[in-house]
Amino acid sequence: MFDRARQTLRVVAAGAAADARHAERTAEILRVLGADEELVTAGLLHDIAKPPTTQLWHRIAGVLIARIAPRVRRELARGNSTFARYLDHARFGAEEARRRGASDRVVSLIAGHHSPPRSDDARLLARADHEALP
Ligand SMILES: [Fe+2]
Ligand SMILES: [Fe+2]
Repeated sequence: MFDRARQTLRVVAAGAAADARHAERTAEILRVLGADEELVTAGLLHDIAKPPTTQLWHRIAGVLIARIAPRVRRELARGNSTFARYLDHARFGAEEARRRGASDRVVSLIAGHHSPPRSDDARLLARADHEALP
């Protein structure tokens, strides 16, 4: 958890430009790791629903609440605020990918990208997502 918090801080410190590059970098790492095109697509789209108005405190609070009070996190993720949409960006991202015609596999990978990985695909996406952070 603290690794994730440190990474989040590094992302924020690097600024919005780093966020904009994150999807491309995730996809690029997946290509290097030998992922097929669907998995690369999942890498490209995985954070597509992260609100552009996400602020530093959303990211920090999201990590801390997930660790300390996961039930509270689930409650907070139900609204329509930036924080709620940030907390639930995996689910919203999966819905957006579905609307754009993504396959079930891509949709499922996006939906689960903040849950513990349970397949080789999910582990590869998690690794690339992690390595794509500054
Ligand atoms: Fe994400
Ligand atoms: Fe990500």
